[in-house]
Amino acid sequence: MSVLVTGGAGFIGSHTAVVLHESGRKVVILDDLSNSSTAAVDAIRSLTRPDLPFVEADAADSDVVGRVIVEHEVDEVVHFAAYKSVSESVEKPLEYYSNNVGSTIGVTRAMIENGVSRLVFSSSCTVYGEPDEVPVTESSPTGAVNPYGATKLVCEQLLVDVAAVSALDVMALRYFNPVGAHPSGNIGEDPIGVPTNLVPYLMQVAVGRLDRLSVFGEDYDTPDGSAVRDYIHVMDLAHGHVAALDSMVPHGRFTAVNLGTGEGHSVLEVLAVANEVIGISLPTQVAGRRAGDVERIWADPTLAAQLLGWHANRSLHEMLADHWHWQQKHPTGYRAS
Ligand code: UD1
Repeated sequence: MSVLVTGGAGFIGSHTAVVLHESGRKVVILDDLSNSSTAAVDAIRSLTRPDLPFVEADAADSDVVGRVIVEHEVDEVVHFAAYKSVSESVEKPLEYYSNNVGSTIGVTRAMIENGVSRLVFSSSCTVYGEPDEVPVTESSPTGAVNPYGATKLVCEQLLVDVAAVSALDVMALRYFNPVGAHPSGNIGEDPIGVPTNLVPYLMQVAVGRLDRLSVFGEDYDTPDGSAVRDYIHVMDLAHGHVAALDSMVPHGRFTAVNLGTGEGHSVLEVLAVANEVIGISLPTQVAGRRAGDVERIWADPTLAAQLLGWHANRSLHEMLADHWHWQQKHPTGYRAS
């Protein structure tokens, strides 16, 4: 029996594929490589097994997903395949709805047609929009503030509705802000084009690919004026997926679970730890607030501890040290410079 990982060549997918392999599962990766590369697949294979099955396909194609399920005797699915840039989603809403909702329909249909019931879905804390209160629990109000967030909410609702009338059991993992890399430095985050996320951006400043980091807003109502997020090590997240699959019960229906550390860190705090890890003071400038940003958000991770027996245990320092290790080994990502 095997676990199918859609989007398994991406940032979180690649780390999760490695940890799922270590848990004793047979892993099959399906990815259309629209935001990743065969070099990522090769790196995953170097950390798992040289013949780890990889299928280049669009997860929206339920016929292909169905064939993979049958061929590899898949009995569990972790569905990552999706676009994830907030800013791009504002410019290309149709592409975001089409890809993110389409792939979730394709995967779900193929699972039901082939009698596979266990699904872990890659969701995001973006479903909480701008929260009135922090930390957020799974029952905090939801609401999207951009098309990317809306696609995650639509997919969650779709899965609630499908699980209610089928044998599908779904656990939607709402990730906070994933950073870091595998301790080997062989796999990591490799954004195509100029990164929009904080840590990939500052790492590219550190290796000289970008001039300076803009701090988006120093006038928020937070202790140092910069925005606060719950940064979580991608290896902790990866282990969260194994814990989710291990804990799923038949007919559990739909459950949403936060995967965060429960601690908020400001942009300036992240920058200070990055400077310490890298050993230089990165050039920065204060810029205005970024449209669509929330002021502060961090998780209440209690439910993950109760249901999955999981909690994050890697520090912000470890996240940045591992991210830096990957960036130093791969200054231009998986691509040769
Ligand atoms: C958002 C979503 C997250 C999603 C991610 C995908 C929320 C709360 N979070 O993360 O769920 O997975 O998008 O891309 O909606 N910053 C700078 N300078 C930069 C880049 C970022 O100051 O060059 C600041 C941002 O303003 C923000 C913080 O750093 O305050 C984190 O930003 P980023 O890494 O882009 O993640 P989110 O927008 O929080």
